[in-house]
Amino acid sequence: MQEKIVILDFGSQTTQLIGRRIRELNIYSEIIPYNKYPFGKEKEEGIIGVILSGSPLSVYDKDSFKIDIKALMGTLPVLGICYGAQLTAYELGGCVESAPSREYGRANLDFIDKSCPLFKGIDMGAQVWMSHGDTITSIPDGFKCIASTPSVKFAAFSGPEEDKIWGVQFHPEVFHSTCGTHLLRNFAVDICGASCSWNPESFIESTVAELKEKLGQDRVILGLSGGVDSSVAAVLLNKAIGDRLTCIFVDHGMLRKDEFSSVLRDYQGLGLNVIGVDASDKFFADLAGVTDPEKKRKIIGADFIEVFDAEAHKIKDAKWLAQGTIYPDCIESLSITGTVIKSHHNVGGLPEKMNLKLCEPLRLLFKDEVRAVGRALGMPEHLISRHPFPGPGLAVRILGEVTREKVGILQEADHIFIQGLRDWGLYDKVWQAGVILLPVQSVGVMGDERTYERAVALRAVTSTDAMTADWAHLPYDFMSRVSNDIINKVRGVNRVCYDISSKPPATIEWE
Ligand code: XMP
Repeated sequence: MQEKIVILDFGSQTTQLIGRRIRELNIYSEIIPYNKYPFGKEKEEGIIGVILSGSPLSVYDKDSFKIDIKALMGTLPVLGICYGAQLTAYELGGCVESAPSREYGRANLDFIDKSCPLFKGIDMGAQVWMSHGDTITSIPDGFKCIASTPSVKFAAFSGPEEDKIWGVQFHPEVFHSTCGTHLLRNFAVDICGASCSWNPESFIESTVAELKEKLGQDRVILGLSGGVDSSVAAVLLNKAIGDRLTCIFVDHGMLRKDEFSSVLRDYQGLGLNVIGVDASDKFFADLAGVTDPEKKRKIIGADFIEVFDAEAHKIKDAKWLAQGTIYPDCIESLSITGTVIKSHHNVGGLPEKMNLKLCEPLRLLFKDEVRAVGRALGMPEHLISRHPFPGPGLAVRILGEVTREKVGILQEADHIFIQGLRDWGLYDKVWQAGVILLPVQSVGVMGDERTYERAVALRAVTSTDAMTADWAHLPYDFMSRVSNDIINKVRGVNRVCYDISSKPPATIEWE
């Protein structure tokens, strides 16, 4: 059984970060809703320690999330963070009060109990990040204060030795807590006894073994998109069940220039059993005359399901549908209220329609972990480090009606931009880039001739998760070169703009 640290999610925005920090220590961690803790099954689940996350709520809120702290204590080491610490103190007889003003920002520890294993190797003055409205004003009987800042006496506390319980008012998972990783390592390694053996190789080994057992001799179908997640999922499954995996790669006609053929070649080179389906005529026919963004997306989604379903039915005895769903697709803050898992937006609806069981081997990994697994599987770097690309493809980057002619123009412009980013060593510095074909024409002059042609917008953003994004500050020399190349080489375009909107309030895609 995979040893793990469980993080109970009470709804904080930084819960995911706690999970990441633990995994960065090569310790497997899992985030679960606060009310889904498997009491009594810790051993069989491989749990070696528990972290209680922060929360936007106060322990005094009528609907605040509660857990039976006493039932947790003494079985495994427990660390409460912010709300997790307040809840611990409150439930065990300490006092939590609303602070006169929310304490937010950096603070320095001016007292540390050097004998406490949680603070081993952490020096006085260490910087921590505070973000709390309530504050702990007294700790339960038998507990002791193990760290303070000038304004927060109980910045950290510990329970009696046999109870193995600690609490920190600050957020060790946040980058600005400079001693945070050290503290989490003290907890996970020294206190919980984690062996730090979780890495891409061990993930592959255990996942392949699990897949073999779960899938047996069954046949599996997987929809490939050309993106990192579905590609890594396919290679992993291929390693587990070989030819019993059939991949379907649908070309809706709105992929990037030459993408269908080159990605198909890559997949075949990886030894995947892949069927490429050119369904572009159907998609273009159904999109004819449609200008509304949502209608376009709906048509593409429905066509995709129809084409995929028809292909899948040709594969006899398929029992499973595999998807490249990853962790951020699964963890939603809503999950703590019981509404879980958003469906993968490219193939949402497929499993119910097809009556197949769902297999999601990457559902517990973050994007960069998926990439690390891909590398460990020996996949080519250009497949692994690809920018995200929307399921509906260039259709959402052509404002207005989508036609083959417009896709052709956009593919050329997009190719110049993306190749340029690669040539200038900028591709890996941005999260995602592309070109948008605008529904406007403007006057220009080429040689002695007046032109009246289309305008395109370049979009390049930096981001860590696509939830928020900033426009990439690309060098002027590069932009100038790309603009010249597009106007000189792409027939039908005489103007290039750069989109300098951040998300929010804009989104990354224009439609
Ligand atoms: P927005 O435009 O909402 O996009 O800021 C956030 C991220 O999601 C991608 N995106 C999609 N990906 N199917 C996908 O697989 C889609 O329908 C879709 N729409 C947007 C977008 O490219 C960005 O990375």
